[in-house]
Amino acid sequence: MESAYPVERSKTTQTRLVLPPDTNHLQTIFGGKVLAYIDEIAALTAMKHSKSAVVTASIDSVDFVSSATVGDALVLEAFVTSTGRTSMEVYVKVHSNNLLTGEEKLTTESFLTMVAVDEYGRPIPVPKVIPHSEEEKRLFDTAPARKANRKDRAMIGKEKL
Ligand SMILES: CC(C)(COP(=O)(O)OP(=O)(O)OC[C@H]1O[C@@H](n2cnc3c(N)ncnc32)[C@H](O)[C@@H]1OP(=O)(O)O)[C@@H](O)C(=O)NCCC(=O)NCCS
Repeated sequence: MESAYPVERSKTTQTRLVLPPDTNHLQTIFGGKVLAYIDEIAALTAMKHSKSAVVTASIDSVDFVSSATVGDALVLEAFVTSTGRTSMEVYVKVHSNNLLTGEEKLTTESFLTMVAVDEYGRPIPVPKVIPHSEEEKRLFDTAPARKANRKDRAMIGKEKL
């Protein structure tokens, strides 16, 4: 197996139509529905990079900065920003697009940690990632700080148990 691949290899885009069953009484999409889409595209992205099964270890905090309404297209874009030994950080950006007016709005963005696992659910090593674009390099360079924050948060969580 190659030991490093360009970020490009994992890039994934999905477009979803916002339908009535996915929305509340204001006809805007449920946050949980968007989270499910985010989790799914992150899994696809990490599987493309690692060529293995993956599980979601964590989802960083998610802020919804605008909503999406029935009839909008929800466009999700994702790629692996950096890797550890067995984990991959995946960046997901979500836009809503009003196909009638062309108006596009950022809905949310998030970082997820996906872990490659074998058939018994045990973590296995993943290839490294090579950033090329400015955005990829910036997210690659800032990944260690986000990982450290996650570790701190996990420690605090364990202390509370
Ligand atoms: C994620 C999981 C495989 C980690 O297993 P583990 O026994 O803790 O394994 P390790 O301690 O070796 O950690 C493996 C990797 O996961 C990372 N990791 C573990 N917990 C993490 C967390 N909460 N957030 C971010 N990364 C985490 C570790 O940093 C490590 O990364 P690295 O190898 O790149 O350094 C395990 O906790 C699990 O299966 N969780 C359930 C996953 C799941 O079912 N998700 C769906 C929703 S319930």
